[in-house]
Amino acid sequence: MDRNLPVNLGRVTEAAALASAKFLGRGDKNMADQAAVDAMRRMFDTININGEVVIGEGEMDEAPMLYIGEQIGTAGDDGLKVDIAVDPLDGTRSVANGLPNAISVVGVAPSGCLLHAPDTYMAKIAVGPKAKGVIDIKKSVKENIDNVAKALNKDVSDITVVVIDRPRHVQLVQEIREAGARIKMISDGDVLGAISTCFDYTNVDILMGTGGAPEGVIAAVALKCLGGELQGILKPATDEQRQRCIKMGADLEKVYHIDDLAKGDQMVFAATGVSYGELLQGVKYMENNTATTHTLILRAETGTIRFIESIHTLDKKPEYAK
Ligand code: FBP
Repeated sequence: MDRNLPVNLGRVTEAAALASAKFLGRGDKNMADQAAVDAMRRMFDTININGEVVIGEGEMDEAPMLYIGEQIGTAGDDGLKVDIAVDPLDGTRSVANGLPNAISVVGVAPSGCLLHAPDTYMAKIAVGPKAKGVIDIKKSVKENIDNVAKALNKDVSDITVVVIDRPRHVQLVQEIREAGARIKMISDGDVLGAISTCFDYTNVDILMGTGGAPEGVIAAVALKCLGGELQGILKPATDEQRQRCIKMGADLEKVYHIDDLAKGDQMVFAATGVSYGELLQGVKYMENNTATTHTLILRAETGTIRFIESIHTLDKKPEYAK
């Protein structure tokens, strides 16, 4: 895989972040999402890949851009064929409500390496590299917390579990409290939640709870690059979702391990902060029509982790202002 691809993907997520952050706190999640989709799609037109969207904005009939199956990039048939997983805006509500931790995110892997996950829920557990190998989604919450605490040489009371704040997690929250661990509650964004487990300074040790299955694949790409671990079980919320899973050949009993979600070590990943956050700063619009972005860029093959802070002179980038 082209070693410059990760940085070029950073350009893609930067463009989406710059466009959607304009809608911070403006109460309209659809506008924020649309701006991210449009900007991401435009920037992809400049990238030399032969890609197919496998995780995207939906099926062709429901999403005009970045739909599943859409061909992306300028390389044509001669270029390396890759799977693309996108979430132009993970945290649409966060942007609309002026809340933290919304990101724009892209993962790319050789064709056939990313799970074509149905658009349904997935129960997930994720940890960073130091606790890799000790989690088991089939085990109890307490057992997992105890095992992670042991692996990290921490007291259980010093373990922090990140959980999306949802009514469906009442029982999970109770079990984490009974186990004696701390909880960091987030309003949205379990891709960033999973990534947080890989960076000590976030003080997050485990992600637990149910979020989107497509987000599970994207998080798996990031954790593959960072040496962490993620396991998931599909949890369709409705009968329609259950039928969709079955139609796509998904196994509702299976524990999807990180290699089932993102196979191999040839993948690359980029995420840019949209709203303010702990791991990634959000877009800041500055004087004289300039703006700053903060981007995380990862490459599994070499394990390189890059944080890139960019200053954009938007007068010189009229395509960003479309
Ligand atoms: P969107 O911004 O695409 O709505 O996703 C935000 C998110 O919080 C994901 O990170 C998470 O996986 C999913 O929503 C959880 O779904 P729900 O909001 O239905 O509980």
